[in-house]
Amino acid sequence: MTNSGLEGVVVADTQISDVDGERGRLVIAGADVEQLAPVTSFEAAVGLVLAAGNGPPAVAPGAAITPAVAPAIAPAVTPAALGAARAAAWELVPRLGDALDHPDGMDALRTALGHLRTAAGDVADAIAVIGAAPVFVAAWSRRRAGRPAVPPEPSCGHAADYLRMTIGEAPAADCVRALDAYLVTVIDHAMSASTFTARVIASTQSDLISAVVGAVGALKGPLHGGAPGPVLDMLDAIGAPGKAEAWLLGELAAGRRIMGMGHRVYRVRDPRAAVLEEAVRPLASPRLELARAVEQAAAKILRDRKPDRLLAANVEFYTAVLLDAVGLPREQFAATFAVSRIAGWAAHVIEQHRTGRLIRPASHYIGVMP
Ligand SMILES: CC(C)(COP(=O)(O)OP(=O)(O)OC[C@H]1O[C@@H](n2cnc3c(N)ncnc32)[C@H](O)[C@@H]1OP(=O)(O)O)[C@@H](O)C(=O)NCCC(=O)NCCS
Repeated sequence: MTNSGLEGVVVADTQISDVDGERGRLVIAGADVEQLAPVTSFEAAVGLVLAAGNGPPAVAPGAAITPAVAPAIAPAVTPAALGAARAAAWELVPRLGDALDHPDGMDALRTALGHLRTAAGDVADAIAVIGAAPVFVAAWSRRRAGRPAVPPEPSCGHAADYLRMTIGEAPAADCVRALDAYLVTVIDHAMSASTFTARVIASTQSDLISAVVGAVGALKGPLHGGAPGPVLDMLDAIGAPGKAEAWLLGELAAGRRIMGMGHRVYRVRDPRAAVLEEAVRPLASPRLELARAVEQAAAKILRDRKPDRLLAANVEFYTAVLLDAVGLPREQFAATFAVSRIAGWAAHVIEQHRTGRLIRPASHYIGVMP
């Protein structure tokens, strides 16, 4: 029988992350996302996932890959190396041409990343793409707003520099902390559609940059990473908590889905929604209270409609509130997801190259036979 969504098909052994959809648990390289996100910089999380993808030769088999041991496993992955990669990507910006004119940030990122050349191996390629993504996305965003691109500052943290290059001035410390928490929270999520895409491409022994470019295409769709912009549109359209129920019922009556609700794997509320809701609290966003009310109303309506399947808030719901509160424009939300997840894809490509086989499923022919 055809399994068109491949639910439950296990295609890889991985040390990078684990999703328990029944219990609502996300483990990234041996740590719960709730523990990791509030205290970890994005650079440290990159070190963790790339170390996990590389395998743990420097620690006992089965031991956790902590921030303390990650540098021994992936010594090339340092904040300075990521800063240097941002600086190298900046040199390419004048040559990106029409790539930065795409109306959609994900199209711009996909085209811009295609300008990178493969280097001397997976880890070097990984650092190059992880460093390039924020530079290209910020340059696209500035171009869109009719402003000159802002060069990276390699000594800045990755999150701070991304925000700086986008808004054109030094960002507030609490915005940087919230953005770091976001980037860490979404860095990896087991066999998501984009990660699977990256692993399929890597499984042919193609290079890491090709795999990442393909994954950007998979992430772009609204069923995967394209939802947070529409979530903010929804909050704006609703405007006040009292109007949520009528608006949501109207959407469903028109045959549309409620963005930011439901998940392929989670049968409880996405644990990342709670992490991001907490991370956005210090920013005193005017949208947070409205978002909570809309989430409650949506959860109730969907529970009444689909009593057999829990449709609760997913990561995109509070992503929208958080990225808006740190000052990123909504058109940039999907590409900001990619700025983080690119590290997870890179780790999976490294792991696939190290341990995997050609991924080549089957199809069921329903056409006529000669
Ligand atoms: C994430 C998502 C694609 C998962 O989809 P899935 O596992 O393929 O689930 P299905 O499409 O099989 O949906 C099962 C049922 O729930 C309904 N459903 C799922 N999510 C829904 C939503 N957000 N709003 C309304 N109904 C929804 C579907 O219409 C379907 O109903 P049906 O059986 O009557 O056709 C889906 O929940 C969705 O489209 N959510 C909105 C987009 C979003 O937030 N994406 C970001 C994901 S992190």
